[in-house]
Amino acid sequence: MTASPVAKPLLEAVLGRRPEKLPIWIMRQAGRYLPEYRALRAEVGSFLELCYTPDLATEVSLQPLRRFDLDAAILFSDILVVPDALGQKVRFETGEGPRLDPLTADGIAQLETAMALERLGPVIETVRRIKAALAPDKTLIGFCGSPWTVASYMLAGEGSTDQAVARLFALTQPAAFARLIDVLVETSTAYLVAQLRAGADVVQLFESWALNLDEVAFQNWVIEPNRRIVEGVRQAIAEAPIIGFPRGAAGNLAAYAAMTGVNVLGLDFATPLRVARALPAGVGVQGNLDPLRLVAGGEQMEVRAREIVRAFADRPHIFNLGHGIVPQTPIAHLERLIDVVRGS
Ligand code: CP3
Repeated sequence: MTASPVAKPLLEAVLGRRPEKLPIWIMRQAGRYLPEYRALRAEVGSFLELCYTPDLATEVSLQPLRRFDLDAAILFSDILVVPDALGQKVRFETGEGPRLDPLTADGIAQLETAMALERLGPVIETVRRIKAALAPDKTLIGFCGSPWTVASYMLAGEGSTDQAVARLFALTQPAAFARLIDVLVETSTAYLVAQLRAGADVVQLFESWALNLDEVAFQNWVIEPNRRIVEGVRQAIAEAPIIGFPRGAAGNLAAYAAMTGVNVLGLDFATPLRVARALPAGVGVQGNLDPLRLVAGGEQMEVRAREIVRAFADRPHIFNLGHGIVPQTPIAHLERLIDVVRGS
C-alpha cells in the first residue's frame, strides 16, 4: 500500500491554493525571544559557529515547532553567511548587529566566488537534517538575502537606516556595483537550488532593505536581481516555490509581484490591507501584523490579526508578522496570536 503524501498547508498556499487551515509561521521564529534558544546560544562561541554547526542549527530550527502550532520550520542561518562564504568575513558583536570590513571596488573583484558553495556546505547539511526530523505536514522554508540587501551590508560594513553608502556606491561606481550584484545573483541562485535539492520545500528571498530607493533604483537593484534569481532557480528546478519579501516596496509592490515571478508576496506591516487587496486576484500574500502589536498583546493584537485574516480570505494567504519577531516578545502573546489565527 502506498500512503498518499501528507499535505503541507503552507506549501499548498504558496502553490496558489487555499488549504482548509490558514497556514502560519513567524519571521525570525527561531531566535532570542525563546529561552531555549538563549540557553543554547550561550554555550556556543559565536553566532556564526551556531549557523555552521548542523546539529545545533537543526536543533534551533526545530525549537519553535516544539512549542507552537506553526506550519513551517525555517532553516536557522543568516543572510550574511553568503558574504562570509565569499571571503568577506562577518562578525556578530553582541548587542550591536553584524560587522564586516566594508567592501571596495578592488574587494569586489577579489570575492572568492568559486569557494562559496563549498563553504556553505554545513548550511545545506542542516537543511537535510531538519527535513529528516520534520513532521510530514510541516513545510521547510529555506532562504537567502536578496542581492541589494546583502550588498548594502557588504558595502557599508554594517546595517544602516538609509543605505546611503550602498546607494552612493551604486551611483558613483556602477560597473563595480553591477559586478557585485552579478556575484550575489549567481551565488544566491546556486545556494537556493542546493537548499531545495537538500529538502527545502519553499525558499524565501529576504529583501529587507527595499526602502529608500527611487523607482529606477528599485527596478534595477531590487526587481531585476530578484527576477534573475527566480528565473535561475526555476531553470534548475521547474516551478520551484518562492516567497519574495520586499520590505518597504510600497508603491512598487505590484511591479515587484508582476515582474519577479515569485509565488507569494511577503507584505511588511506598513502595507495597507486595501493596497494589498488591490493586487491582481490570485496573487498570494504573506503577512502582515506589526511585530510590536505582538509585544503589546491583548485586544488590539487580536482585532488587527482578525482584520488581516478577513482581508485576505479570497486569495492564498500565509499569516505572518510584517517583519521579524523581536526579542522582548512574550511567549504567551505568540501562543494567543496562533489561537486567534486558528479561529478560537
Ligand atoms: O527564525 C529565523 O528566521 C532564523 C534564521 C534567521 C536569522 N536571521 C537568525 C539570526 C533569518 C531568516 C535571518 C535573516 C536576516 N538576518 C535578515 C532578514 C530578515 C529581517 O529581519 O529583515 C537580516 C537583515 C539579517 C542580518 C542580521 N542578522 C542582523 C541585522 C542581525 C542583528 C540584529 C538581530 O536581530 O540580532 C543578525 C543576527 C541574527 N540573525 C540573530 C539571529 C537569531 C541574533 C544573533 C544572536 O543570537 O546572537
